[in-house]
Amino acid sequence: MRIHETIASLRAARRRDGRVALVPTMGNLHDGHIALMTQARDNADQVIATIFVNRLQFRPGEDFEKYPRTFVADCERLAAAGVDDLFAPQEAEMYPQPQTYQVEPPPEQAGILDGEFRPGHFRGVATVVMKLFQIAQPDVALFGKKDYQQLMVIRNMVREFNLPIDIIGGETVRAADGLALSSRNGYLSAAERAEAPHLFRVLTKVVEAVRAGGRNLTLLEQGAISELQASGWITDYVALRKKLDLQLPSAHDSGLVVLAAARLGSTRLIDNLEV
Ligand code: PAJ
Repeated sequence: MRIHETIASLRAARRRDGRVALVPTMGNLHDGHIALMTQARDNADQVIATIFVNRLQFRPGEDFEKYPRTFVADCERLAAAGVDDLFAPQEAEMYPQPQTYQVEPPPEQAGILDGEFRPGHFRGVATVVMKLFQIAQPDVALFGKKDYQQLMVIRNMVREFNLPIDIIGGETVRAADGLALSSRNGYLSAAERAEAPHLFRVLTKVVEAVRAGGRNLTLLEQGAISELQASGWITDYVALRKKLDLQLPSAHDSGLVVLAAARLGSTRLIDNLEV
């Protein structure tokens, strides 16, 4: 695997023939990231991974400074997964001066759910992903459904800017007890880690209730929130939404997803399940 710190070096390594896949990450790689690499390998002739902890998508007071950085172990995992090229720039290479032009996703998509609790987050994500797309010029790019709203924002950005890139969504990879893998799970104490899969169980119950014909969505959301709060969680939201655009469903909409964000101590976890 070749490692590139500069845009010029990555561009020189990008193949002119065949299909190129891009898998952007912030590093501290786990099996969820690696599943995307494997899926990329199956869909392309050249797989480019990126590791860049993107300051723009963190708010002041969030975990940018303490975000886990495990570069050497990450490189080993990427090479073993058959990744051809890793782009791992320093901040000055990505943002040589303040990035004055940014991609501003519309508030209907980026101001709801996670965007309501992390204002500006999806602007930071869209901006860095747009830059990575311009830098690597992939034919296909892979993102996890674990970050469901992020995947929707990127799909819409690609469509509205007519970018010639296929976006593939990868299924959420979970620990045996159901907890969605996340770099932030490492922040959890042993007791918090034991409680964490409760989030997945609560979402599973909501999905089962909807499948069984439960139609009072607000009641289902409230029930989930109460159950989490009773176990010590601080809930940002539990929300049943339409899969396609994450807007509020009307009475007979099918194609729903339940999304949640909640904190255990100082660690904020997100998860979702399609109905
Ligand atoms: P990061 O959190 O490192 O995630 C990189 C990719 O892995 C994202 O597409 C994310 O959805 C996916 N992923 C994370 N956990 C997963 C899991 N348990 N199962 C499947 N996929 C999973 O998301 C980001 O980085 C950044 O916002 C980024 C897109 C790189 C822009 O900075």
